Amino acid sequence: MIQNIQTDGIGMTAEKATTRRGIILAGGTGSRLFPITHSVCKQLVPVYDKPMIYYPLSMLMLAGIRDILVIVNPRDLGGFHALLGDGAQWGLDIYYAEQERADGLAQAFLIGEEFIEGEPVCLVLGDNLMHGDALPEALLAASERTRGATVFGCEVEAPEQFGVVEFDQDGVAISLEEKPDVPKSNYAVPGVYFYDDKVVDYARCLRPSARGELEITDLNRLYLERGELKVELLDEGIAWFDAGLPESLAEASYFVRGIQEREGCKIACPEEIALAQGMIDRDRLGQSVARYEGTPYGEYLKQL
Ligand code: DAU
Repeated sequence: MIQNIQTDGIGMTAEKATTRRGIILAGGTGSRLFPITHSVCKQLVPVYDKPMIYYPLSMLMLAGIRDILVIVNPRDLGGFHALLGDGAQWGLDIYYAEQERADGLAQAFLIGEEFIEGEPVCLVLGDNLMHGDALPEALLAASERTRGATVFGCEVEAPEQFGVVEFDQDGVAISLEEKPDVPKSNYAVPGVYFYDDKVVDYARCLRPSARGELEITDLNRLYLERGELKVELLDEGIAWFDAGLPESLAEASYFVRGIQEREGCKIACPEEIALAQGMIDRDRLGQSVARYEGTPYGEYLKQL
């Protein structure tokens, strides 16, 4: 099932334990965006000026992750391959695996077991987008915590649409529920999750929920019950979007456009992040400039 896997050189470094592998879950049918996603995969539709998947990809890069597995619906593999390739243009190693049916977010760890190789791993949902000055630090800190699991909490107006975390008076997480009718707090859990080396074993213990899915919230609850879950509140300056609905997709696009116009730089430009992080050199950037010659994106890359 997994294509393009090479395991040489992916091992953890001895100096510093950090999360070095990431999974982008980009399967599903995108039915909440029909008819847009009837023949085009959701994670390839644009959020303003870039394909949606550039945003979760950039989050993994900001977390210092270079080995990335993209899990896709078999129908869409060709499109992702054409866009992302093997990741070399960004100094990444990108691999692909197929998910036959949308059997739940936590299935990512069963599908990705061979890629994970018993190491810590970060999962990002293919329709999630975050932006803010404090984001790189938050992601890096989570990626350095390689014992237990780390998820985030973000105050929202409609928590019933998400996984919801409840805190006690001391700010310690005490319960997690998936899309509850009566949420116990206004804190949603965004689709960015960091797990230690036990995640595949824990995922194997899960049973399908009433809606027939292996729920990420059930996985997180296993960590919570063992006292191994850290819930970090997202800094107020960090914006989070789940772009899976027409309204939130439009909102995310307006947000990206607004920030880019105001600040004169791009959100989630993988070439820019790769250059800043030393993942690529200027020669490699030049190849991307050539690829997009004569386009606004190419002009942006040129001035980097
Ligand atoms: O966005 C954050 C929320 O994402 C969390 O708060 C929830 O706890 C979590 O369950 C999830 O809720 P959603 O309703 O947004 O999940 P959705 O079914 O839309 O799936 C999220 C992404 O993962 C989407 O891009 C499609 C993809 N996916 C989904 C499933 C169920 C897959 O690739 N495979 C799957 O089996």
